[in-house]
Amino acid sequence: MAQAFGFQVAATDGRARTGVISTPRGDIRTPAFMPVGTAATVKAMLPGSVRATGADILLGNTYHLMLRPTAERIARLGGLHTFMDWQRPILTDSGGFQVMSLAGLRKLTEEGVTFKSHIDGSRHVLTPERSMEIQRLLGSDIVMCFDECPALPATDAEVAKSMALSMRWAQRSRDAFGDRPGHALFGIMQGGVTRDLRAESAEALRAIGFDGYAVGGLAVGEGQEAMFGVLDYAPGMLPDEKPRYLMGVGKPDDIVGAVERGIDMMDCVLPSRSGRTGQAWTRRGQINIRNARHQDDPRPLDESCTCPACTNYSRAYLHHVNRAQEIIASMLLTWHNLHYYQELMQGLRDAIAAGRLAQFVADFHALRAEGDI
Ligand code: GUN
Ligand code: ZN
Repeated sequence: MAQAFGFQVAATDGRARTGVISTPRGDIRTPAFMPVGTAATVKAMLPGSVRATGADILLGNTYHLMLRPTAERIARLGGLHTFMDWQRPILTDSGGFQVMSLAGLRKLTEEGVTFKSHIDGSRHVLTPERSMEIQRLLGSDIVMCFDECPALPATDAEVAKSMALSMRWAQRSRDAFGDRPGHALFGIMQGGVTRDLRAESAEALRAIGFDGYAVGGLAVGEGQEAMFGVLDYAPGMLPDEKPRYLMGVGKPDDIVGAVERGIDMMDCVLPSRSGRTGQAWTRRGQINIRNARHQDDPRPLDESCTCPACTNYSRAYLHHVNRAQEIIASMLLTWHNLHYYQELMQGLRDAIAAGRLAQFVADFHALRAEGDI
């Protein structure tokens, strides 16, 4: 029998937790940051390099992979892990959220969503059952329920209606997923920034029963204060003994605030995407390497960083290759950003384990307040 999926909390500090999610493909240290590998690649990085930054798990996308190269083709070629050469855990998002943000003409019904591909305009259908089938064909280790997230701003009535639909889809996802030892199915809480709706959603998900629980529908334009407002109560509505995943978050200070509030897993395109546009994230905040102030600067991005960009190259070089639109500019800045994010996660895990998270967070904000020098 395949090894079971499990979660052990090793230590807590306030509402924050550190522990390990165990899967047949390896352990995931929590709090965990998952780099985004939407199209079966973390853009500009080899899988071994992503691992070298400290990532235990990647995120993949049902929506993109079903359109190109298709889930059936990936299954014939041995599954997503082999296809992209990443043998550690992969979590896949379920597609509904990406349809709403990326696809052309779309139609939402009780059954699911019909949409036009952003790639070639072809027509496709996603339902909870089809999303579960695609994620099984991909070989995903952590499968996400098929859900829906209303575009903001939305009225309370619209958010309530959408949340109720997502909860019916959560039950259909659970039924279609079936019993798959070694693979996990996560429910997704919705309900916008309305406490009663969040409570209702949490109750519906707990009644169904999942291996982990995501907080969805945040970081969609509500702002950090409103997001933290929800995170002040939402994780507490979910089972303590299961992992809690905040979807699509975020900037380094969002991550720190989410971990303080009891979140165990996060994903975001920010470190990889912004690396390709010349944005670097460091202990002292954000740096735009395109800025002319870097063109003669022999210093590294961050003298305390041990990534290849900081160990081997000057800001002047990174500025030059970015301006010249050389591929290595994307490679080096993405590596640096992912390295910084994973180092931040390790710092958070160590601080929680040692019961000194408050001091860690104070130091984190103090250094950022000093700024880049
Ligand atoms: N990614 C960011 N937010 C969400 C969400 O609410 N649902 C899903 N499925 N993915 C997300
Ligand atoms: Zn670096």
